[in-house]
Amino acid sequence: MGKPKIAILTGAGISAESGIKTFRDSDGLWENHRIEDVASPEGWYRDKELVLDFYNQRRRQLLQCQPNAAHYALAALEDKYDVTIVTQNVDDLHERAGSTDIIHLHGELLKARSTADEHLVYDWQKDINIGDKCAKGSQLRPHIVWFGEAVPLIETAAKVVQQTDIFIVIGTSLLVYPAAGLINYTGYDTPKWLIDPNNVQAPRVPNLRVISKKATEGVTELVAHLLNEKG
Ligand code: APR
Repeated sequence: MGKPKIAILTGAGISAESGIKTFRDSDGLWENHRIEDVASPEGWYRDKELVLDFYNQRRRQLLQCQPNAAHYALAALEDKYDVTIVTQNVDDLHERAGSTDIIHLHGELLKARSTADEHLVYDWQKDINIGDKCAKGSQLRPHIVWFGEAVPLIETAAKVVQQTDIFIVIGTSLLVYPAAGLINYTGYDTPKWLIDPNNVQAPRVPNLRVISKKATEGVTELVAHLLNEKG
């Protein structure tokens, strides 16, 4: 028999203790910008330089950050479970902690994408500047899903959630769809956990337990419990 399956939805809260700011904890501003100015196609058409500069700063900041105990604990779960992480985060902290199956719903900061062909994606650690072009000659943009854009991996994620034996939600306000709706794909009897130190409007699903703690503490505790439970 294979290992039991765990699907985990993570949001900005899991990376907060690594020094990356969450989106909605500071007056609707994101690092002093209105979200719609830097994270929408309209913002991009209005001022490409501002958008590139914004993500260049985020990328430089990410390269200075390290995974925290919560990221490492989730990686350790793979000893006994078949784990898939569905993350809304664009950082690579799950990868660096050692998790091996990660779906990046909202894109990846360390990748750049062609504006002519969405399938032309490059690994990208440095700044993206005006004039940086893809192989087809068009400007590169951050490989990020902006507001108003399609979320290409949502169906893949929904299938994973549908088939999981355990579902865990960590550090997300559950305000942004379609990601926030994934929990509705879980089975009725599937055990579900939500870890967040603040009051998240918990979805009305059966078998949901809430752990009101920061990720480093709550995730470490839950993972110890899950690893123990399996003996
Ligand atoms: N540990 C766990 N959770 C935390 C911590 C912590 N140390 N600190 C804060 N949180 C929680 C907050 O209480 C909040 O519920 O993390 C959540 C962060 O919520 P948001 O800032 O809304 O982030 P997220 O849900 O990931 O946003 C979803 O919105 O802007 C878009 O595309 C962007 O992926 C992002 C999406």
